Amino acid sequence: MDQYRASNKRIGMDLKNVRAEYLQQELHVDDLHQDPFEQLRSWFDLALKANLNYPNAADLATVDHEGQPHSRIILIKDILDDGVTFFTNYESDKALHIDNNPKVGLNLFWKELDRQVRILGQSRKLSQAESEAYFQSRPLESQISAFASKQSRVTDKNTLLSSVANVRMQFQDLDKLPCPPYWGGYHVKIHQFEFWQGRPTRLHDRFRYRLENFQWIIERLAP
Ligand SMILES: Cc1cc2nc3c(=O)[nH]c(=O)nc-3n(C[C@H](O)[C@H](O)[C@H](O)COP(=O)(O)O)c2cc1C
Repeated sequence: MDQYRASNKRIGMDLKNVRAEYLQQELHVDDLHQDPFEQLRSWFDLALKANLNYPNAADLATVDHEGQPHSRIILIKDILDDGVTFFTNYESDKALHIDNNPKVGLNLFWKELDRQVRILGQSRKLSQAESEAYFQSRPLESQISAFASKQSRVTDKNTLLSSVANVRMQFQDLDKLPCPPYWGGYHVKIHQFEFWQGRPTRLHDRFRYRLENFQWIIERLAP
């Protein structure tokens, strides 16, 4: 039986009257960079200057072995010439999904700027040296958490706290920890972008970049 109907409670919330005003400037095809990575960098520049919370947060979509999509927020750490990077636990659910199917989606949403960037790409693990280099730049407390947490597995608070205490004990003489083998980065090689600019009257500007014969084709999409 449907568990929501079985509970016999009204759990819905009517959000139909929540409307945003999209007052940001128009996006013209002539203003777009031919290279979508330049376009992404210029939008990121503005998001960074706008002092937003989590400007580099992106929703990462993966698909499990049953074809069920999952999504969760991660932080983009680099924009490269052909993709972006993020870091996580290599035994987490998302990593298991990627092992099985490296195709991922990423979605950046800067609500204060009425902007969304949708990305499609293919993930691969970064080298151990690259993961180690980033891990070394993290504060000690983040390193300890990465070491101690079996991300995505069922646990309880005491197990987590004792795992943290064990890691502290094991590395008590060090002020930086080595990167654990089950933690590291992914490089998402991008083959499609969509830049979305919210506009008044809902005639939002959408531009897709897709690769065809190694060339980026830019197309306007209906909103
Ligand atoms: C603002 C924000 C930033 C996050 N950044 C990361 C990140 O960079 N890497 C990561 O593994 N999880 C990050 N998380 C936690 C993930 O959303 C998620 O809970 C975790 O990775 C487990 O996901 P999984 O079980 O689907 O693998 C972040 C969450 C939030 C809200």
